[in-house]
Amino acid sequence: MKKTITLCILGLGVWGFAALTAVAQPTTNRLVIHADQGRYTISRMIYGHFAEHLGRCIYEGIWVGEDSPIPNTRGIRNDVVEALRRIKVPVLRWPGGCFADEYHWKDGVGPRHERPARINTHWGGVIENNHFGTHEFFDLCEQLGAEPYVAVNVGSGTVQEMMEWIEYITSDSRSAMAEWRRKNGRQAPWRLPYVGIGNESWGCGGNMTPEYYSDLYRQFSTFVKNFSGNRIYKIACGANGADYRWTEVVMQRAGRHLDGISLHHYTIPTGDWGRKGSATRFGEDQYHGALRRALEMETLVRRHGEIMDRYDPQKRVGLIVDEWGIWTDVEPGTNPGFLYQQNSMRDALIAGLTLNIFNRHCDRVRMANIAQMVNVLQAMILTDGEKMILTPTYHVFEMYTVHHDATLLPTDLTCADYTFQGQSIPGLSVSASRNREGVIHVSLCNLHPEQPAELQAELQGARVNRIQGRLLTADSVQAHNTFDRPDRVRPVAFDGAQPTERGFRVTLPPRSVVVLALQ
Ligand code: AHR
Repeated sequence: MKKTITLCILGLGVWGFAALTAVAQPTTNRLVIHADQGRYTISRMIYGHFAEHLGRCIYEGIWVGEDSPIPNTRGIRNDVVEALRRIKVPVLRWPGGCFADEYHWKDGVGPRHERPARINTHWGGVIENNHFGTHEFFDLCEQLGAEPYVAVNVGSGTVQEMMEWIEYITSDSRSAMAEWRRKNGRQAPWRLPYVGIGNESWGCGGNMTPEYYSDLYRQFSTFVKNFSGNRIYKIACGANGADYRWTEVVMQRAGRHLDGISLHHYTIPTGDWGRKGSATRFGEDQYHGALRRALEMETLVRRHGEIMDRYDPQKRVGLIVDEWGIWTDVEPGTNPGFLYQQNSMRDALIAGLTLNIFNRHCDRVRMANIAQMVNVLQAMILTDGEKMILTPTYHVFEMYTVHHDATLLPTDLTCADYTFQGQSIPGLSVSASRNREGVIHVSLCNLHPEQPAELQAELQGARVNRIQGRLLTADSVQAHNTFDRPDRVRPVAFDGAQPTERGFRVTLPPRSVVVLALQ
């Protein structure tokens, strides 16, 4: 592969990289799309979300209460719901995260003024007033049109507590739990398709060994009952990043009792949890470092998948990446326990390349949930009181809705590397799919911060007559939306792709996410 050599000087400010670019050879990037080979469906659940009782995610970001001057429906803010409906949120994981293993659901039902105040020991030690509980969560899912995914408390809860919660939510009987739900205002049971049994049980969820967790999983999962026609997909707590032994042990000991096993992987720009790096003030070292670490998702998904293949060659069990995204230092002056960070064009590229990885591995990856939905980590939406902005990551999720439940088309990409200080990553990222109407969508990311990329694409088994495109880019990789400038990074129409005899050619602007519709 021909290489492009980039020499970058940092130190001229963080608002762009002053790149001295020495182009060694012109590079031809080539893509083959196997339009004749579609076999797997890209589950729309890959585009899932996660909302925890953490910082201003639930309280303020979603829940403002019925008496709030912020327009709301039964306490849930309308502007946020309306924006999230546009990205077709397919599934929402709740109530945590670490919070899940200290959450006792009975605190969060019944008249709000009677609900007990608890301390949120994980996230800032603030008072949790339990005003957002089971009824409010299911109302939110109904307003969003999303499937509920509840993470139950294994770390500090009991089997009985979990059983009763599932009965409360899903039973249509005259049982005490179902009657209590009716008394609290909900006649019909809700549908509960996904249950996660513990969260990060290797860490904040109990510091367990995989052997101990597997036994606990077997015990808890036995009592996850299907009431009144509801069918629950059971998700075991999976590995922390590259802890392959965790997956091995859980699959071996509990594999036949589970439907999905999770994986958590966060992108720390510096690779150092103690000094993660700023969300918006970073140089090329942390830009390249973040992309490199985000791309590790490909290895994680492949290697955990290989272990799963040994125990589950039929691929019955899904790999559920139910926490992922970039994790930076918090915004200056904000509560360190609230994990509030800005969201830049770098985040958009991380979202684009990660979703491309999930799409390409959709034979095993059946669901993913970005962390988190509002005001926490790699959020879709940031709020400030009654104000709301959409982040660059939101726009990628919106642009990629075309892949929801479409058929994956395998791709072969040969591209130049993007190299920084001797470390190389592929300069481009891609995935392709065909929807029910026969339209082929190709999502492409040019990861290089300064150089455009020419790409020649060949389509096998289909012809291209017409191309429509959308582009997300910005004047720098640090660019982000603010409450004063909410539209600095937003998608625009793109006409940089043309049909060719065998497919199409496209020039991708630097630091860009492009989605093409081929007809
Ligand atoms: O998403 C923030 C936290 O990250 C979650 O609570 C936990 O599961 C993970 O460590």
